[in-house]
Amino acid sequence: MSKSILVANWKNHPSSLNEAKSLLNRLSRQSKLYKKLSFFIAPPLSYFESVSSRSKNFVHLASQDIFSSIRTASHTGEVTPDILKSFGVRLSIIGHSERRAMGETSADVSEKVKTALQSGIIPLVCVGEISKDQDGEHFEFLREELELSLAGLKRKNDISRLVIAYEPVWAIGKHAEDAVEPTDLSQSVMFIKKILTDMFGRNMAERIPILYGGSVEPGNANNLLHETGIKGFLVGHASLDAKSLGVIANSLISK
Ligand code: PGA
Repeated sequence: MSKSILVANWKNHPSSLNEAKSLLNRLSRQSKLYKKLSFFIAPPLSYFESVSSRSKNFVHLASQDIFSSIRTASHTGEVTPDILKSFGVRLSIIGHSERRAMGETSADVSEKVKTALQSGIIPLVCVGEISKDQDGEHFEFLREELELSLAGLKRKNDISRLVIAYEPVWAIGKHAEDAVEPTDLSQSVMFIKKILTDMFGRNMAERIPILYGGSVEPGNANNLLHETGIKGFLVGHASLDAKSLGVIANSLISK
């Protein structure tokens, strides 16, 4: 993806389809802006149809998770990659910390990454330390999480389709002033690039985009982009406000 990447993670919001439709209407007024980015919305499953029919020309559909198997056997309660693709899903968020907190392991994440790749869906793999750590111990946590989540990937064609989201868990769902500091972000991004280089070699590692997520808001977007090495944002709460998301999109375009 040559353009900057913006992924709106709606989580379990807004609370009604009508509100989702009116948010889409507000976003579509700035469609020219979003067309300058690789812009994805990951809505709750029940809003897929509305998002895909109302915003085809400026947004790509994403899912917040993916089932770990492409098998066609029956699995009550699951949504297969084929169903996701039938709605036009191009990217799946995998290993979000809120799913890891419910018991998803890095081994589960690695299965899901492989399933996404086999299905032609871009895996957006989330990693990030749980607590803020002044001694740098979180780097070891990050290394292990990345290595396990991307275990078993060998084919160049697979590796070249990966996208990583660095989301320190302690920074999620707060406010701009609680997000990571740009200097710490650039250190973490450098560290992630080093691990990817150790795993896949420099040439492949350089091609893997790294996004940042965790309390990205209009007030900190510019700073987070300044020489930190990220290729875009994964935005939660601020993506539910069309004005805020527009400001964040503008920061990405003018970076
Ligand atoms: P936030 O969420 O922007 O509300 O911190 C980000 C995320 O959880 O992906």
